[in-house]
Amino acid sequence: MKKRILLIDDESRVRASLKAVLEPVYETIQAADAQEGLELFRKEAPHLVLLDVILPGTDGLALLQTLRAEDRTAPVIMLTGTKSVKTAVDAMKFGAADYLSKPFDVEELRIIVERALTGQELQREVTQLRAQVVRRYAFHNLIGKSQPMQDIYTKIEQVADSRTTVLITGESGTGKELVAKALHYNSARRERPFIALNCAALPETLIESELFGHEKGSFTDATARRVGQFELANTGTLFLDEIGDLSPMTQAKLLRVLQEREFTRVGGVQSIKVDVRIVAATNKNLEELVRKGQFREDLYYRINVIALYLPPLRERGEDVPLLAKHFLSKRIEEENRPPQDFSKEAVDLLSRYPWPGNVREMENIIEQAFIWSKGSDSITPEHLPTILKNGTSTTTLRDDTLAGRLSLEKAVMEFEREIILDALKRTHYVQTHAANLLGISRRMLKYRMDTLEIGRPASEAGAEPQEAIEE
Ligand SMILES: Nc1ncnc2c1ncn2[C@@H]1O[C@H](COP(=O)(O)OP(=O)(O)OP(=O)(O)O)[C@@H](O)[C@H]1O
Ligand SMILES: [Mg+2]
Repeated sequence: MKKRILLIDDESRVRASLKAVLEPVYETIQAADAQEGLELFRKEAPHLVLLDVILPGTDGLALLQTLRAEDRTAPVIMLTGTKSVKTAVDAMKFGAADYLSKPFDVEELRIIVERALTGQELQREVTQLRAQVVRRYAFHNLIGKSQPMQDIYTKIEQVADSRTTVLITGESGTGKELVAKALHYNSARRERPFIALNCAALPETLIESELFGHEKGSFTDATARRVGQFELANTGTLFLDEIGDLSPMTQAKLLRVLQEREFTRVGGVQSIKVDVRIVAATNKNLEELVRKGQFREDLYYRINVIALYLPPLRERGEDVPLLAKHFLSKRIEEENRPPQDFSKEAVDLLSRYPWPGNVREMENIIEQAFIWSKGSDSITPEHLPTILKNGTSTTTLRDDTLAGRLSLEKAVMEFEREIILDALKRTHYVQTHAANLLGISRRMLKYRMDTLEIGRPASEAGAEPQEAIEE
């Protein structure tokens, strides 16, 4: 499709010659004055405008400003009758892409038009890319398409921009810190500091000076004045991790800052005002701590204005394969290794495991699998730790039985079958060794294998002469 160029000039002779030069490549539309030009600009949305500086009524420079205000992407090239530098400078100041003096040179016209259009395209690409980057960065690599994660994304977008305190809760390793960052990078404060402080990692004696800073000489080790995290985070976000671990005294001080948005350094007298957005996180049940008198109720209400709950990974099963692939490709990219994927069996194993350590545990397990699978085309169950193979079945079997989907008898058989299979695999199908491992006789093992219809996999068949002797 040809690009559309709007020609605005009161002299029909000039419009005709512009048209003659441009038409083979572009489509042109024409207007004889500013009024008509603006109407066509709105109606036809041209890709580029050639605009005469001197027009009857509203002049070209005034129209230029209107056009730029309406649409900041379509470039406007000014046609100047005089060789006046001043007009050209004004035009550029008001956002013209370029200018051309009349009488114009045909070749120059072509070049200027083409250059302006390319520039516009580049500009559009840059804008798109920038938006993409910000978006990716904004969600800070949060992976997951399950409903709970989508709800989290929506909430992040909704609350990011306010200064309201947010409390993020969820089991260990569910991604609380990542969500805190996403909140920050989605807010207007994104270019301001994001300061994270782990309240559990610091002894009570240090946490106060860490939070609020101290004046020189305020305690034995205070040899110099120190700026605290609250000051460092000014105009940005302060992430208070493991907030449930704060001592009662620090809780009281924190409450004061949250109420008054000001504090004093340890050993100081002067109040310092700050504009800090607080995001707190904990894997503890704060309500329970409040009930037990270990967490101040008033502080709890101050923090818990907006609550974001991150459900454990086992409750967002469909994210498991996604996350696994994400962590794997990240490592592959880092080490420049040829691409790998998970076998179906491996994905099944990952999907059945209850992930008590949540996403962090998965990251570790994928890291191990990444190492063990070096040189393999794909990641198979043998590259995954046995805990996945053991832990899995029992929990799901248990769940299935208690939910009435499976009879107890079947569940026990299934459990037995998996344990026997695992023992066989570990002993490379040497039945005597497997029986020893399981603490039963070889005869008993053989009997159970027959009942449970456990055969020997084709790949292992005839692998051990020892078995042949035993038979
Ligand atoms: N949705 C997710 N997408 C990608 N990576 C994630 C996701 N959730 C967590 N992670 C990763 O898992 C690890 C643990 O996440 P994070 O530190 O945010 O958990 P946490 O809830 O703060 O845990 P803890 O309570 O133990 O401090 C991090 O390496 C993080 O990058
Ligand atoms: Mg954390």
